[in-house]
Order: sequence, then structure tokens, then C-alpha cells
Amino acid sequence: MRILAIETSCDETAIAIVEATGDEKAAKFRVLGNALLSQVETHAKYGGVFPSLAKREHAKNLVPILEAALEEAELLHEDTQVIPDTIRNQVEKILEREPELGEPFLDFVSESERPDIDAIAVTAGPGLEPALWVGINFARALSLLWGKPLVAVNHMEGHVISALANGNHVAPPLAGSDARAYLEIKNVEIPVLALLISGGHTELVVMRKWLSYERVGQTRDDAVGEAFDKVARMLALPYPGGPEISRLAEASRSAGDTPSFTLPRPMMHSDVCDFSFAGLKTAVLYLLKTKTDLTAKEKQHIAHEFENAVAEVLWRKTELALGRTGARTLVLGGGVSANAHIRREFARNMRREYPDRALRIPAASLTTDNAIMIALAGFYRARQNDFASADALQADGNARLG
Ligand code: KG4
Ligand code: ZN
Repeated sequence: MRILAIETSCDETAIAIVEATGDEKAAKFRVLGNALLSQVETHAKYGGVFPSLAKREHAKNLVPILEAALEEAELLHEDTQVIPDTIRNQVEKILEREPELGEPFLDFVSESERPDIDAIAVTAGPGLEPALWVGINFARALSLLWGKPLVAVNHMEGHVISALANGNHVAPPLAGSDARAYLEIKNVEIPVLALLISGGHTELVVMRKWLSYERVGQTRDDAVGEAFDKVARMLALPYPGGPEISRLAEASRSAGDTPSFTLPRPMMHSDVCDFSFAGLKTAVLYLLKTKTDLTAKEKQHIAHEFENAVAEVLWRKTELALGRTGARTLVLGGGVSANAHIRREFARNMRREYPDRALRIPAASLTTDNAIMIALAGFYRARQNDFASADALQADGNARLG
């Protein structure tokens, strides 16, 4: 099955074309095309993602990104297509709220051959609704013109499924030099426990049956990525803050420093799998109030101790959930799972405490938002004939797993 997948839930416009074979026991994926445009720099000056700006950028970028993905997949062929007026009117109606998209879209589809694909997968949520709608409407218009079925994908399911690909720490070469990379998902022992950590989410979900989820724990206030971003802002570091905090913390660690500050580990010893990060963020704020001139070293120590606190809380709650669910496999997913310290700590703790259970951490290139993860999840959904009707397909900013 050849899947074209579209991701526009936040600030990445991404399209991937993936050839998928196999089933839940063993599946193989060949990445034929993978194009992604990050809006990070556009949003950096606002210190966060600005929804209406994200929507406009997606609308502007989708056609060029589609062309790039098709071209890489060798599926872009010029050909004049006659679009009947009835279809043209329907497409114009679908895209009426995306003025930047309508015209380039119709120009593109009237000049290129229908690509040889079997289904179109698109992120339906969670995420920023205006941004999600652009991707959804683009997918609906393509589905109508090309006569291909639609698959609605939950973004968080994309993180879970893509984290299952390949083994521990195997980093498949993806974009650029080797676009024909293979990914494999096999020998997955269920239940799978997923710790999903991103800018908008912090949750533990268990998958006892393929594609069926139950929530075990979640944040009661801020998401962990949000805490990284807010603390980074307090330290006058650029957005997104996660990689910046990590850079400072790693510098402190490689200098062999012990942080000169202690920060709280909120809810560390409570008997639930829920998290709280607001108190940790506030503790950094109060700490900063006691300082007038923060030295570079002090900044590093705050970042170092902040990461230690986050990693300890994340591990403690995950360990609790491992015990309660009897999960055989643990996966990390979401943008924060790119964090070097968290990856190291989880790898070490699993090896030491749970050597008989598997840990799957996504390749660094798959941790932040991309469309390959949507294609992978879309494949399993399509295998279950879980197709969406173009008319009923809706953006759901708060879509949940379990
Ligand atoms: O999954 P993602 O790309 O987008 C959302 O769905 O939110 O996650 C983005 C989040 C941001 O908060 C960013 O600061 C954080 O992931 N992040 C990191 C790192 N790289 C990205 N946090 C900690 N360490 C990193 N290396
Ligand atoms: Zn994400």
C-alpha cells in the first residue's frame, strides 16, 4: 500500500510518501519521498507558535511541499488534466477558507498526472485547529481529484507508532541523502506503554491491543515541552527552548559540574501516574528572582538541574505505570524525546531495572513532527479499513488517545 501523508498540526508543514507492506506482526516501510518545511524561525520572534500565522504558512507551503515529495518519489509527471466544472467547484468550496492555497492547488493538479498512490493520510488532531484544517482541506481536495480514500490520523498515535520503528537507538537515514530508507516495525511485544512528551502533551498511555489505547497518566498543568520552553524564555534563550536548555545542561555535565541549585520534583512520590510541571517552572522563576546578574555558569546549572528534575519525575511515573500495566515494551515519543539526557536516563534505567522489557526510542529524525509518522500510523488504520469520509472529516484540536 502506498500512502501519501500530510502533517500540519503545529509549525511543520510535512508530506511523506511511504510504501508499506506487512501486518502487525511485521511491517516494512520504504520512504519514497519526505518533504518538510519548518516554520520555527517564523514563530521564534513571537516566542511560540502563532496559530493564524501557522495556518497561512501551511497554506502557502503545501503545494511546493507536495511537489517536492512527489518529485523525490519519482511520482511527479507533467500532464494536462481536464478538471470538470463540478469537481472544480467542489474543490473551490473545500478550499474557500484557504485563499493562499486554492489557486496554486488548482494550477498544480491541472498540470500533473495523478500519482500512483493508494490512500491519503492526514493529521486530524490534536494540534492547532486552524493549522489542522489547512491540512485536512488539502487532503479532502486531493482525495476528490485523485479518487483516493482518506485516513484520519491522531498525531499522538503517529508518535507512538513511529517510535516502534526499528530497534533501540537505531537511527535510519531518512531525509536527504537516502530518501529510500527502510523502516521496520516487528516483534513488538504488547502491552506497549508510551510516554508521550511534547510541547502540548505529557501523558502515559497503554496499548494493550494494536491501535487501542487507555490513558494511564497525564499532566495536571503544563506539558513538559512547555516547561522547557518557558524556562528557556526565563533564561533569555530563543524559542524553541528544549534544544537550548539541553545544550546548556550538557555543557555543565561535560564539565563534570554538580548544579549549585536544587529544584523540586513535583508529585514525585504521589501514588498516581499523573505529572505536574507548573511548580517546577515557578521554582525556577523564584530562583531567578534571587539573582540579579546571572552568570553563564549559573544558567548552565539551572538547565542541568531542571533537566535532572524532569527526567527523574518522568522516570518515576513511567516506572509506576510499567508496574501497573505489565507493559512488555516502553516507547518514548514526541518532541521532548529528542532530549539527550532523558534518552540516556531511560536507556540506563531500563537496562538496569527492566532488562527483560524492550525500550524503543524513535530515531532523532523521527522525534519531532514529520509526515512519515503519520504515514506509518495511517497504514495500520487503513489495514483496519478505518477510512474517513471527506465530508465528515473534522479537525479536533483536543483529540485524545484513550
Ligand atoms: O512533538 P513536537 O515537535 O511538537 C508538538 O507536538 O508539541 O514537540 C515540540 C517540543 C517543544 O516544546 C520543544 O522545546 C521540545 O519539543 N524539544 C525538546 C528538545 N527538542 C525539542 N525538549 C527537550 N530537549 C530537546 N532536545
Ligand atoms: Zn508532535
